[in-house]
Amino acid sequence: MTTYPLHQHAVPFANEVGRDLPAHSLPAYATMLDAHHRSHATELRACIRDLSLRAGDMVLDMACGDGTYTGWLAECVGPAGIIVGVDIASAYLARAQQRSSATHQGTVFFQQGSVEQLPFADNTFDLVWCAQSMGSLPDPIQALREMTRVVRVGGRVVVLENDTMHHIILPWPAELELAVRRAQLLALHNTEEHLHKFFAGRQLRTFFVAAGLSTCTVTPYTAIRHAPLDADEYTFLLWYLNDIASRARPYLDDMACILLDRLIEPASPMYLLQQPDFYVTYINMVACGIKTGHPHSSAYHELKRADWTAADGQLFCAA
Ligand SMILES: C[S@@+](CC[C@H](N)C(=O)[O-])C[C@H]1O[C@@H](n2cnc3c(N)ncnc32)[C@H](O)[C@@H]1O
Repeated sequence: MTTYPLHQHAVPFANEVGRDLPAHSLPAYATMLDAHHRSHATELRACIRDLSLRAGDMVLDMACGDGTYTGWLAECVGPAGIIVGVDIASAYLARAQQRSSATHQGTVFFQQGSVEQLPFADNTFDLVWCAQSMGSLPDPIQALREMTRVVRVGGRVVVLENDTMHHIILPWPAELELAVRRAQLLALHNTEEHLHKFFAGRQLRTFFVAAGLSTCTVTPYTAIRHAPLDADEYTFLLWYLNDIASRARPYLDDMACILLDRLIEPASPMYLLQQPDFYVTYINMVACGIKTGHPHSSAYHELKRADWTAADGQLFCAA
């Protein structure tokens, strides 16, 4: 069997708080993710809208990053609701806090914490939301168990995810697609990471069942963008192409490397993002599981709400 050198860029999101990045630093992908949120706001907001949250709901935005979803969630629960954004990265929390709208003051809170041990009592939230973080969190099933613990009986755990190999469909040659995906797979195989966490999209029901959420439905959300691309879409795709190339290159043969370079080099006449017939398709999945068990009384829930609003010593209060 062929062996390949270990490549430092093999793992998507390798440079992450909790691994080798200090908590006060933003990950290298922050600019790309920011551009993606802006460019895909319509489709991503639709995922939140379809949650049909009620006024007054309490929601945890797990691994909230820059707080984009936290703000969108807050719009759905009204002034009586509470949205708590939790992340391990203090730099991301500071950014989320800075961006949080003054209109969400008293509704949105941010708190530093790890999904490995969330700083909340059992059955605290009506819904736990977690977007595009299965590859970043140390162990998806353990993470889902902890999210399940803090959601109330009858409440929902909802995860927005994709699948590394089938998230983004580019109009490049099929031969290159095969070579790049094979190279990506080899790169991932060659790491210490749990391989399955990079293919969360295809395993969401398995993860949910393993975490104790027996009812799990998965809804697809797709998006498409045609040339000419807007600036945010361009920023996102340029980052994506360079990231994928840096990880795949050590495992590609010379011909594939040359073709890849021609397609992703902005000065090249073959530059993919400037082809007039360019388009790109995105596939995301939203998995929703319900926590079963003996429901608690609403009095218990109100007590938890009171605890929360009083616990500002530990919270970053919105605006
Ligand atoms: C790819 S980002 C997604 C952020 C946000 N959900 C979004 O979609 O914009 C992954 C997030 O997971 C956070 N994270 C990584 N390990 C974590 C952990 N053990 N506990 C909590 N958050 C963690 C990172 O700091 C980062 O904000």
